[in-house]
Amino acid sequence: MRVGVHFDGVLLQGREGQSIAGILLSNGQRTWRSTGGGDRGIFCGIGICQDCVLTVNGVEGVRACQRTACEGDVVEREGQG
Ligand code: FES
Repeated sequence: MRVGVHFDGVLLQGREGQSIAGILLSNGQRTWRSTGGGDRGIFCGIGICQDCVLTVNGVEGVRACQRTACEGDVVEREGQG
């Protein structure tokens, strides 16, 4: 079954059970956060490093590698600038 999430206003498709990070990666998005040290995306993949954090449905600090995507999730970047 397919799952659709909105990332920066674009509808991305994934499979049921995938993490948000999995859907972003499978749609060609390798980084989604910027810090003074550069672009961030997946690093550890197991919920430790916090490099993958995003805002999901208005909740900040969600680890994309740990959060299973739900139909209609609205995903936004953090740490711009
Ligand atoms: S990639 Fe390290 S916490 Fe998600």
